[in-house]
This record gives sequence, structure tokens and C-alpha cells, in this order.
Amino acid sequence: METSSNSVVAVAGGSGFVGRSIVRELAARGSSVIVLSHRPPIATTDRLIEFRQGDINKPDDLPGALAGVETLVICLGFRNSPIEAPRRGRTFEKVDAGGTEALVLAAKTVGISRLVYISGAGAAPDAPRHWFRAKWRAEEAIRGSGIIYTIFRPSWIYGRGDRSLNRFLGFARWLPFVPQIGNGRQLLAPVFVDDVGALVADALVMPAANNATLEVGGPETMSMDDVIRAALRVQGRRRMILHAPAGLMKLLTRPLTLLPSPPMTPDAIDFIVQSAPVDSGPLTAVLPRHLTRLADALGKYLAPRK
Ligand SMILES: NC(=O)c1ccc[n+]([C@@H]2O[C@H](COP(=O)([O-])OP(=O)(O)OC[C@H]3O[C@@H](n4cnc5c(N)ncnc54)[C@H](OP(=O)(O)O)[C@@H]3O)[C@@H](O)[C@H]2O)c1
Repeated sequence: METSSNSVVAVAGGSGFVGRSIVRELAARGSSVIVLSHRPPIATTDRLIEFRQGDINKPDDLPGALAGVETLVICLGFRNSPIEAPRRGRTFEKVDAGGTEALVLAAKTVGISRLVYISGAGAAPDAPRHWFRAKWRAEEAIRGSGIIYTIFRPSWIYGRGDRSLNRFLGFARWLPFVPQIGNGRQLLAPVFVDDVGALVADALVMPAANNATLEVGGPETMSMDDVIRAALRVQGRRRMILHAPAGLMKLLTRPLTLLPSPPMTPDAIDFIVQSAPVDSGPLTAVLPRHLTRLADALGKYLAPRK
């Protein structure tokens, strides 16, 4: 199998947790990668990686930012996601859906030949949660673009630099317990961020991935508590997990929605405690790849306790 697309690839959101692994993998396979961010560009010593400013809130600038790009990977999220801050423009509708639509329009303007979109497991037009409907809206923009695409719908992604598991492990450094909202029984198919980067790179060279929408999960399905316990084990720590009832936490965080930048909201709690099961069958058929088991992946980046 050819491993590199040899095309110029832009990654919108390439400075984020998931985007960084995509950028790293593409550059490792020899692609020239442009990292699009809303921040001013920064210098890099890697000759294959270039930073460009491409703010989805400035749609007129996007075609210029995409000049010379053949493939666009969209991996956008707002700061502090899933905690929305509408007064700061940080919502699923505005960034995930509206941002993707703006990028797709710019991609059509400059004649981009391939799109990859990082959606989420659960995207559906009639989903009960608005974040899944926003993801669906973004997917529809991709599917309706007339450009060859691959849409990935990952379950819960973890790895170096994630905001979820690392937060729990941060608590475990200082506290004799790990606090958790909800009962910890939500089911996930945790997928290692390095595997997501590799799958995106695979999709660019595998024709079977053309115009496919693929759910992405790791090789195991387990509860959130089991994920935390596995990470604590790898670190050699023994900690209790203390659960705070989600209903009570939603009640307590309701007043925070009045703040311009709330530290937590009831909606974010619903997001955090939701299950994220996937059907990985189609993914395996289209992009066969050995995905890393949780304990093996954690062992790669979680140093044992000193
Ligand atoms: N993490 C997971 O477990 C998970 C699971 C399933 C799906 N996903 C999806 O994967 C995507 C990325 O998630 P993530 O965890 O990597 O998020 P993240 O770390 O917060 O990264 C978000 C990226 O979006 C960029 N961005 C934010 N505002 C922007 C703007 N106005 N213009 C241009 N770029 C902007 C950020 O770049 P700058 O701030 O530098 O502009 C950053 O690179 C999201 O769509 C998420 O729904 C994630």
C-alpha cells in the first residue's frame, strides 16, 4: 500500500489535540502540511509543516489561507469544548457546523480535491443532543460539497495532551481520590489519538475510503471508570473514584450559564456522561489497521509514578 498521498494537506484545527496527531502522521509520511489556526502563524523548524492563519470567523480570508492546498482535513473545535460560551461565539452550531460550512465553501472556491472531516459518534439529523445535530449539519456540508470526502465519527479519543483523562490523572496527583461527574458507567470505545492520525493518513491513499462515513472506536468497549482505573494502574497509583450525581451537578452549574465563560454547564455535563458506542465494522472493512489496546497505548505515554 502506498502510505503517502504526496499532496499538500491543510489541517484546520491542526494545532489542537486530535489535529496535532494528524499533522504529525502526515508529515511523517512525507506530506507537506499546512496547519490552519485562528492565531497568527508561528515559525517551525520542520520543513514539511507550515502554519497559516485561517479563522473560521473570517470566512473571506479562508480561500487565501487555502491557496495551493489539495486536501483539507477539518478537525475543528471551540476552546473548552464541550463547555459552550455563546457570548464568546463558542458553540457547536457556530464552530463545528458553521466553521465547517465556511471551510467547505472556501474549499470549493479554491478547487480542493479531497476533504476529511472529524465528526463524532452519534451525529444524526434527529439526535436528541444539539451537538450531534451540529455535527450532522457539518457532515451534510461535506457530503453536499461535490468533493471526494471521508468522514470519521470517533468515539472518545485519548492520548498525550487530551483534556479528559489527563484531568482525572491531574486530580490523582494531588488528591487521595479521583472526582467524577456521573456514575462512571457510560460506555466508550476509547481510541488512541495516534491511531486516529494514522487512520486519517490511511484514508488519503485508500480509494475504499472515498465518500465513506466511518465510526471509529478502539478495540475495547469499557466504562469510563474502567478507563480511569486502567490509567491509574499504568501510573502505579491506587485511588478511589468518587462519583458526584450528574443531576445534582447540573442543578449546581445552572447559574454558571450566566457567566460569559462558564467553567461548567448542565449541557457539558450531559456531554461528559453520555455513552459513545460505535460500530467499527465498516471502518475495519475500509481501513484495516491494528488499533492499539488501551493499556498498551497508556504505557506509551503515561510515566509511572516517581
Ligand atoms: N477529543 C475527543 O475525544 C474527540 C472525540 C470525537 C470527536 N472529536 C472531534 O475532533 C475535533 C477536534 O477535537 P480536539 O479535542 O482536538 O479539540 P481541540 O484540542 O480543542 O482543538 C480544536 C482546534 O480548533 C481550532 N480552532 C478553534 N477556533 C478556531 C477558529 N475560530 N478558527 C480556526 N480554528 C479554530 C483550534 O486552533 P486555534 O485555537 O489554534 O485556532 C484547535 O486547533 C472536534 O471536532 C471534536 O468534536 C474529538
